[in-house]
Amino acid sequence: MDTIRRTKIVELIRNKDFGSKVAVKGWVRTSRGNKFVTFIHLNDGSTINNIQIVADVEKFGEDLLKQITTGAAIYATGTLVESQGKGQSCEIQAEQIKIYGLADPATYPLQKKGHSFEFLREIAHLRPRTNTFGAILRIRHHMAYAIHKYFNDRGFFYFHTPIITASDCEGAGSLFQATTLDPYNIPRTEAGTVDYSQDFFGKQTNLTVSGQLEGELGAMSLGAIYTFGPTFRAENSNTPRHLAEFWMIEPEVAFNDNNDNQDLAEDFLKYLIQYALDNCMDDIKFLNEMIDKDLIERLNFVVSNDFKRLTYTEAIKILEESGHKFEFPVFWGADLQSEHERYLVEQHFKRPVILTDYPIEIKSFYMKQNDDGKTVRAMDVLFPKIGEIIGGSEREEDYDKLMARVNQLGMNIDPIWWYTEIRKYGTAPHAGFGLGFERLILFVTGMANIRDVIPFPRTPKNAEF
Ligand code: 4AD
Ligand code: MG
Repeated sequence: MDTIRRTKIVELIRNKDFGSKVAVKGWVRTSRGNKFVTFIHLNDGSTINNIQIVADVEKFGEDLLKQITTGAAIYATGTLVESQGKGQSCEIQAEQIKIYGLADPATYPLQKKGHSFEFLREIAHLRPRTNTFGAILRIRHHMAYAIHKYFNDRGFFYFHTPIITASDCEGAGSLFQATTLDPYNIPRTEAGTVDYSQDFFGKQTNLTVSGQLEGELGAMSLGAIYTFGPTFRAENSNTPRHLAEFWMIEPEVAFNDNNDNQDLAEDFLKYLIQYALDNCMDDIKFLNEMIDKDLIERLNFVVSNDFKRLTYTEAIKILEESGHKFEFPVFWGADLQSEHERYLVEQHFKRPVILTDYPIEIKSFYMKQNDDGKTVRAMDVLFPKIGEIIGGSEREEDYDKLMARVNQLGMNIDPIWWYTEIRKYGTAPHAGFGLGFERLILFVTGMANIRDVIPFPRTPKNAEF
């Protein structure tokens, strides 16, 4: 059979080069027809749109055509013509068809449409072939690209921080240990504790919860950096917004204060959402229709309105005076729950909110202390349907104040001596934040569960694929 160079379906539909001979390769979405003609809808992942292949039954024979069932991989050539049928702009009048791989209709799990997301999580090896997951994963790619573009265009350097570290940036104690010690034969010190000097790195290490501490070192030399990598948290939180392995983007900028940090966060988020609207509209339209009817409206709203900025203390007052019944109590000093965050965003201000100046007790050790002795220069960006999408702060750049806080918290200085020492040599104000990549994808896709915006989610008791 002659081989014509294969064109991706996204390009076929875009170029509409009617009359030309084309070749396509992909997976069959549906195949139906009558005694005379078979209509094959083919998808190759390059776009949400399928191309229709029209195959003459007499020419190809029933034996071949009946093997072309949902899920099969095929190659087809033919002439691209303007489509007569509704719903598509062009189709291929087939001249040659080759089957690469069959998909037995009796067992292929995606034989029918309309599976629940719960079921699809159990077949994560196949779910990218559905329209919904194809759309999500293409958007995920475009968002990753847009993140690099945003920072590159603004002179930030992509700074690679380690995945294995000895420090615990957030101090939440939710660490996955990284060790080569044999769990059946753990070496002990004389005192009976684990002898980590015999471990691979000669000390206790874990998977990183954040690249921030090392990122700050980058900012204090290159001026403006960002990290973009996987982070790991062994929190046992089975919520639709938490993963044990998630991707985080952490810009860090020398000489920025908490206001600059908020400006950067707002500009960054708006840029990313606008980028999605400009570059992913086929997929977003599909999700708007099938998943969330307000999606496009919400995305447009966020890019065209200012985020509301206020302090934690002001927010607590609003929540206390709201008369709303919350599951978790509201009082000054309480860590805000997602129900509180969403009340502020969705009911009260009806727009994204940036909360600043949180109580020192509920935030991490590195945050810059305010003069009131009670609050720190933190900022959280809260989004509709999501709650916290970004967390960040100005950093405590004063060596003595940082050490006082470290000691007050009884932290072990050994794993972070370098982090404190950088404050001794040319210290300067600096600030940064972390954007949870999957929370961004939740927002941009309108999906409700974070397990459905990453190809292979890691959650408690789930690392199958
Ligand atoms: O607020 P977090 O814990 O902040 C930090 O890690 C800082 N070191 C960031 C910085 O200042 N450079 O996490 C930042 C963001 C959250 O706002 C949230 O969007 C996301 O990361 N996030 C999670 N996403 C999915 N699953 C989890 N378990 C997450 N924990 C945090
Ligand atoms: Mg946070």
